[in-house]
Amino acid sequence: MINSVITGISDVAANVRKIDFKWDQKLLPGQFIMLWYPGVGEIPMSISHLGDPKSITVKAYGTVSSKIMELGKGDRLYFRGPLGNGFNVRGKKRLLIGGGSGMASLHPMIERGVHGIVAGRTSADLIFLDEFDQDRVLAASDDGSSGFKGTALDALKTLDPESFDSIYVCGPEAMMFGIMKHLAGKNVYVEFSLERSMKCGIGVCDSCSIDGNQICTQGPVFSLESVMKMREFGLTRLTTSGKRIRF
Ligand SMILES: Cc1cc2nc3c(=O)[nH]c(=O)nc-3n(C[C@H](O)[C@H](O)[C@H](O)COP(=O)(O)OP(=O)(O)OC[C@H]3O[C@@H](n4cnc5c(N)ncnc54)[C@H](O)[C@@H]3O)c2cc1C
Ligand code: FES
Repeated sequence: MINSVITGISDVAANVRKIDFKWDQKLLPGQFIMLWYPGVGEIPMSISHLGDPKSITVKAYGTVSSKIMELGKGDRLYFRGPLGNGFNVRGKKRLLIGGGSGMASLHPMIERGVHGIVAGRTSADLIFLDEFDQDRVLAASDDGSSGFKGTALDALKTLDPESFDSIYVCGPEAMMFGIMKHLAGKNVYVEFSLERSMKCGIGVCDSCSIDGNQICTQGPVFSLESVMKMREFGLTRLTTSGKRIRF
């Protein structure tokens, strides 16, 4: 278990906080850590900033993430990692599509010239929108309070996907499922970063499997072709207690 002192905290959206810490480790965009809150639990978390300091960007959903939000500068982060495969950054003209906190795993690939679709429920939920070239990014909000009124898929439908060399997607599974179907058969390289409940993070417990694919070790990043072969994708998932539920 690694531990590191928190060097900075900043709010980046409604209920979303960036936490900076020192970690002398080379990482790929899309890799993650298993973040432990002593006495509460451990959850997967992408590294959103790969420089010095490193950062995670956490949205409070439930038990562990809410406790992480209570940490302050000078407190310690406990984690295991780096874990997972990371994105294959390819081609010159790239499009990043992030829904909600999914934008955190894509953040390391934001740079000048990169295109983006940043989606969330309301304008308050859009993460890292300001970091894109403003003439190359579409904001999409369900309530229309910022940018395009609609989903990330609605915004994507206004673009020609084949005009991009590569597209990278991370967000709620319903959003990724719609985008997968829309991009199937198109002449563009596509990768998705998938989310599942994780316990071990190292390929032992199988709680993260989708149709036998272990998200923690073989992923979390998978190509469009691989995701299309996963029959459970977009339909069912396991809860932390191991019960299979529909999305
Ligand atoms: C590889 C990977 C990378 C991740 N990176 C990030 C990241 O950078 N930032 C981040 O904020 N989160 C990230 N997550 C998601 C994060 O791990 C979960 O939000 C976390 O496990 C929730 O745990 P909890 O104990 O706080 O909530 P729980 O108490 O387990 O859940 C409370 C409720 O919230 C729901 N819930 C939990 N997570 C989500 C979610 N992501 N979306 C919608 N509903 C949810 C649960 O179904 C449940 O109903 C990542 C997940 C994976 C697999
Ligand atoms: S989290 Fe245990 S096998 Fe993936």
